[in-house]
Amino acid sequence: MAGAELELKNVSLRYGGVHALEDINIRLGTGGITGLIGPNGAGKTSLFNVITGFSRPSAGEVRFDGQRIDGLAVQQIARRGIARTFQNLRVFPGMTVFDNVSIGALSRQQFSLRSLWTPRRDKQQAVTDATWAALQRTGLSELAFELSANLSYGKRKYLEIARALALQPALLILDEPAAGLNDSETAALAAFLLQLKQQGLSLLLVEHDLSLVQKICDRVLVLSSGRLLAEGSPQQVMSNPAVIESYLGSEEY
Ligand SMILES: Nc1ncnc2c1ncn2[C@@H]1O[C@H](COP(=O)(O)OP(=O)(O)OP(=O)(O)O)[C@@H](O)[C@H]1O
Ligand SMILES: [Mg+2]
Repeated sequence: MAGAELELKNVSLRYGGVHALEDINIRLGTGGITGLIGPNGAGKTSLFNVITGFSRPSAGEVRFDGQRIDGLAVQQIARRGIARTFQNLRVFPGMTVFDNVSIGALSRQQFSLRSLWTPRRDKQQAVTDATWAALQRTGLSELAFELSANLSYGKRKYLEIARALALQPALLILDEPAAGLNDSETAALAAFLLQLKQQGLSLLLVEHDLSLVQKICDRVLVLSSGRLLAEGSPQQVMSNPAVIESYLGSEEY
């Protein structure tokens, strides 16, 4: 699928008295890797939830490919080409790797209007093809019929990415893909994400590993206390005094 532009206009999100997001304006062009950084509790996952339909913004608009998507169901947004992975892995351990990944491919088929008059056999073939393609892209083909519970943590992270890719998205959203990975696994992940970018996918990722962000991101957005604090190239953002202050002021850094 060709890339599509994502636009957030004056987006706010409240949980009771908590202002998780406050008047966010973002425009993401097609292609490239955008990093979203910020201290713990800054609102990064909340922003992903708003984009992917897991949370409905209290105010503002989200547009993808020119059309409003805020208010749509999670599956409808996914079918328009936005796929995500989760900060806490959501893999079904009792299912095989293949079956876990096929969920992504299935949700694309299930909600496709075209599928109403596609013969069942063709639909099954499309799900199988998309699943194998995603397994191949993530290097998991050999493990297709392994129980997911038997996979290492690192492999399970690729399994989540494979399930998202099986949706054949234009925009892939990753919540802390490098968390829990060692240095060599992180380096392999960086190469893999750059490869996805080269294949034309747009990526948006939350990551606490700032050296990874610096290495692979074309552009970086910084959230702090629910507000967009800064944006620019990795170099611009990391040398921004307000960004440094926001990180030094948090316990994590
Ligand atoms: N379901 C919820 N109900 C109430 N408050 C929430 C909920 N989810 C998030 N929050 C609050 O919203 C704010 C932003 O949280 P969010 O999880 O988006 O931060 P984050 O930047 O992803 O943090 P981390 O780096 O720790 O993952 C925090 O104050 C958090 O406590
Ligand atoms: Mg988070």
